[in-house]
Amino acid sequence: MTGKDKLKTVILPVIALLIMICVLLVHFDIPKRAINKIKALSNKEVTVYEEKIDIEGLEEPFTIVFIADAHICLCDNRDADVKDICDSRYKEFERDSKGSEKNFSIVMDYVKKENPDLVIFGGDMADEATYASIEYIEKEIGKLKSPYLFIMGNHDFAYGSEYFSDKAYEEYFTRYDSLNEVKEGCQIKEYDQFAILLLDDYNNQVCDETVDAIQTLKEKGKEVIIAEHVPILPLYEETDIVERTNEIWGGDEYGQSRVLMGDGAVYPKGATNHLIAFASEDDGLVKLLLAGHIHFYHRDKINNNAVQVTAKPAFERGIVKVTLY
Ligand SMILES: [Fe+2]
Repeated sequence: MTGKDKLKTVILPVIALLIMICVLLVHFDIPKRAINKIKALSNKEVTVYEEKIDIEGLEEPFTIVFIADAHICLCDNRDADVKDICDSRYKEFERDSKGSEKNFSIVMDYVKKENPDLVIFGGDMADEATYASIEYIEKEIGKLKSPYLFIMGNHDFAYGSEYFSDKAYEEYFTRYDSLNEVKEGCQIKEYDQFAILLLDDYNNQVCDETVDAIQTLKEKGKEVIIAEHVPILPLYEETDIVERTNEIWGGDEYGQSRVLMGDGAVYPKGATNHLIAFASEDDGLVKLLLAGHIHFYHRDKINNNAVQVTAKPAFERGIVKVTLY
């Protein structure tokens, strides 16, 4: 083949094809969408699920960011006993989500810029109660100008084989003193037009003091936001939350969820039953229940005018932003 033939049969058709592709790309706006896709995968992206809640009598909007399940797993020689466990969990998060501590830091930078009226940390900020993880969480929370509230998840004070044990409660729970000032497992944060009920339901049950707290809230008559780590199984209507949690976490031998609180899941005891009944009351005070634990975003009705929202985990850069108006 001569040079002239080659030009005619190979090079010119290739050039023509490239020109056609460019025309098509411009016509269908493909370059722009491709860039958007790259943007969507940016290293700094945070997924924000927005929730708007009407609060009677509220004059100014009030914003809350809810963050759960950062699962920081840093460890040094101060916690040599659990170093192997932490290192292997660290590698898992590094492999699956490019690092839980990096993603938590990105989330916190975002929240700092947003500067909401309140930040609620909804449990499992640490994967194990190591000094290095807790110090990292303290450092990241120190970035915020917003006030914050902190509740405990089941992982926060796990320590090797110490999980839900008396030793775990006594020795490792207390490492969070600077972050979690209220130790009773139940606190009410009251504002002029609404109240927030914060529950440490780290053992899949809420503490007995919740019954008195609910009574106090009923006497005050303000609308209520509940924040806890473990979600409830809604009583209100058909829901696929059990199927969705079972897909990820596996159900028990009867096909019931092991990661939700309620009949048909982890059987609720006294105070927990009381809480579920309170949250499920039609035309009741509860307007929103925020939770984490199950590691995916989910939204369900819990009564005729309230929803439960579970947060995409912070280790995947998810948050819930609530605007009360
Ligand atoms: Fe978690």
